[in-house]
Amino acid sequence: MQRLLTGLQSSGALHIGNYFGVLKPFAEMYDTYESYLMVADYHAVTSLRDPAALRQNIFNVVKDYMAVGVEPSKCIIFQQSQVHEHTEMAWIFECLVTVPFLELSHAYKDKVAKGLEANAGLFNYPMLMAADILLYDTDVVPVGEDQRQHLEYAREAAAKFNNAYGETFKEPKELINKQIAIIPGTDGKKMSKSYGNTIPLFGSKDEIAKAVMSIVTDSSGQRPENVYQIHKNFRSESELATIYEANKGSYKALKEALIADIENLVAPMREKRNSITDDEVRRVLKEGSDKAREYAAKKMTDVRQKVGVSLI
Ligand code: ADP
Ligand code: TRP
Repeated sequence: MQRLLTGLQSSGALHIGNYFGVLKPFAEMYDTYESYLMVADYHAVTSLRDPAALRQNIFNVVKDYMAVGVEPSKCIIFQQSQVHEHTEMAWIFECLVTVPFLELSHAYKDKVAKGLEANAGLFNYPMLMAADILLYDTDVVPVGEDQRQHLEYAREAAAKFNNAYGETFKEPKELINKQIAIIPGTDGKKMSKSYGNTIPLFGSKDEIAKAVMSIVTDSSGQRPENVYQIHKNFRSESELATIYEANKGSYKALKEALIADIENLVAPMREKRNSITDDEVRRVLKEGSDKAREYAAKKMTDVRQKVGVSLI
């Protein structure tokens, strides 16, 4: 069985764009691989300095995944910071790559261009991510298009190590689903946490209704395009054709139909999510992190020997 690993930064509440973009595809494929799902809490520390928020986000990410159908018994769900080998391995990769090479990182360049503080953690971010992936001899890494470069960095880190110390790491491949459309937000631009235009996935019915009612519509076309582009993720084209024909011109009715469809999808997941306790998340993460550590520790023993820091 091929090994799959992916990670999410614990950085905030998820929206329906995240659901169709990453949560749903992951839930549909993870059990055909030996899967690892990591909460990248140390990556979140590059941008989040609020301990209470970080702690809460760790619980939230795990609950979101479990609520959409990921079963902890069928994959290893673990917390990055609890497997110390990740930061240890990242250090070794950092000693193998050059500063100009890391300076090419889009994430780093974007922050610098925006005049934001680019701390050394953000600069080294790709090497921690390389460690996350390579420590587990991962074959495939499902990610969004924005993460493609990080996979190139991981392959380069593997090659640099193998060259210097002998064959040790497998070069992983990204799995990017080009079919998945970008879901527009309430303003018609890409739905994104950072644009304040989201329909929250696990919001209350009222919050979801409020967000849908605020979708910007223009009356020039045959149908309210911003509503339709979200709606088409919920129903077939022919079903939608009937609904949009019957309610032609009544944007309120069409938005209400969308609210009902979102509610149908979300209600059972919301109920499941509400039934997951913090203690259950603690148990899942403890069990997952123990298993992950077992694998990573073996790999790290080999690495330490090859690098020459092990005296046995
Ligand atoms: P955000 O833009 O809300 O901060 P992230 O960058 O954390 O979202 O996205 C995590 C993943 O969710 C992305 O790699 C992408 O695959 C998916 N995603 C985010 N926004 C959308 C969207 N509007 N439509 C489809 N997928 C999305
Ligand atoms: N950089 C990823 C993101 O922002 C999160 C991440 C950290 C990750 N480590 C990973 C993704 C390992 C896949 C594999 O979305």
